[in-house]
Amino acid sequence: MTLSMKITGFVATLVILIIIPVYFLQESGNQAAIQQAYIDRSVENATDLYAENCVVCHGASGEGISTIPALDTEALRTMPEETLYKIISRGVDGTQMAAWDLEEGGILTRAQIQELTTLILNPSWKQVELRVADLGLTPPTPAEMEVTNEMVSALQTLEGSEDLILGLTVYAENCAACHAANGEGTSIAPALNTEEVRQKALDDLIAIVQNGVSGTLMASWKDILTPEKIDASLTFILRWPEIENSGVEFPEIEVPVFESTPEMIAAGDRLFHIACKSCHGTDAYGTPMAPSLNNPTFLGETPDAAIYQIIAGGVPDTLMPAWGARLSEQDLNSLVAFIRSLEENTQPILQP
Ligand code: HEC
Ligand code: HEC
Ligand code: HEC
Repeated sequence: MTLSMKITGFVATLVILIIIPVYFLQESGNQAAIQQAYIDRSVENATDLYAENCVVCHGASGEGISTIPALDTEALRTMPEETLYKIISRGVDGTQMAAWDLEEGGILTRAQIQELTTLILNPSWKQVELRVADLGLTPPTPAEMEVTNEMVSALQTLEGSEDLILGLTVYAENCAACHAANGEGTSIAPALNTEEVRQKALDDLIAIVQNGVSGTLMASWKDILTPEKIDASLTFILRWPEIENSGVEFPEIEVPVFESTPEMIAAGDRLFHIACKSCHGTDAYGTPMAPSLNNPTFLGETPDAAIYQIIAGGVPDTLMPAWGARLSEQDLNSLVAFIRSLEENTQPILQP
């Protein structure tokens, strides 16, 4: 072996020992950077999806609201990605957690669900909270209600006062946040202090409180409250006028008003073109399947609250589905905001 061959061999060994590992190190560094960039982009996209679709139930920073679980937990961060994906895609049967996959009747694509999964596994909840606030989507802080001595003494003058006092306590702790201290309802839950509710069969009301209403904020309470407490809360709700006459003063609450923001209109626009366009046409100009919503007669005659009701409840015996169980309060409000925003430029047109 000549010296030059030896040197060549040595150089070759050097290449193998040093340069190649360095190359691989750099390469895996690049891959990590690429992967991180991918995660960052997913999380950014998912932040808006989360703000529009999940905040009402899981809270502005994934902290959970009322009986709805937090998403900012170690248990979820260590859950297999596939399991998490399936929960969001298919929902949880018999709970308020709806299926979100387009193929399961939801409104999100697979890519979007994947992004949400990435967000939950690589959370930056502080970022999410700030973005939610920017979009004006922060859910109202649940109103606190305190049971005062005056309230208790006023109730003591009524028949069956023990039940009523228990009912008031249960209501104040668990229900007032959504249904308001005086039972008149808030932007997130209907009034309970009404003749309509009092006319309902007690068994139906018990079933609602026990099982919740699927797809809405009304949770199932049967694992949280004893049957005795559920009964007491309903006794309290059903005797509301009598209780008010006895001199119980319920604290005043402010009902937040619905105000549309440019972000809501944009969100409504997006959602409309996913869920409604197939029937109502691009920009709601109508198709042979469904009427135009983008016309001055409809918009002029229909207040926001009525548009909301139609979208949430559907039109029975027509093709118009009820969206209340599938869309969040924010989604429904965004759709109303979008439809209302059409009024500015609308032209009288013929109904198809
Ligand atoms: C109408 C209320 C509501 C909305 C809106 C909602 N969820 Fe849920 N979600 C729930 C409830 C209730 C549960 C608990 C189901 C159960 O009992 O297992 C849940 C459970 C979950 C879980 C499992 C939590 C765990 O600890 O097992 C995940 C993940 C989740 N939701 C993600 C989402 C995402 C992402 C969105 C938005 C696309 C969303 N949810 C929108 C009500 C909601
Ligand atoms: C997180 C918000 C929230 C909380 C907390 C809550 N509810 Fe509800 N509740 C709702 C919503 C939303 C509905 C309407 C569901 C629907 O669209 O059918 C509702 C509906 C009801 C109804 C049916 C009203 C009707 O006209 O049919 C009753 C009764 C009721 N809630 C009682 C209670 C009681 C009792 C509690 C406390 C133990 C409670 N709710 C806590 C949101 C809430
Ligand atoms: C499968 C077809 C279909 C889809 C999808 C659909 N709609 Fe409709 N929609 C209809 C039909 C049909 C009517 C008319 C019902 C009637 O005869 O009163 C209607 C009526 C309405 C009305 C009342 C119009 C009026 O003149 O009174 C509103 C508002 C509305 N839809 C909004 C929506 C929104 C928002 C979405 C998406 C979230 C949607 N629709 C999705 C078929 C559909």
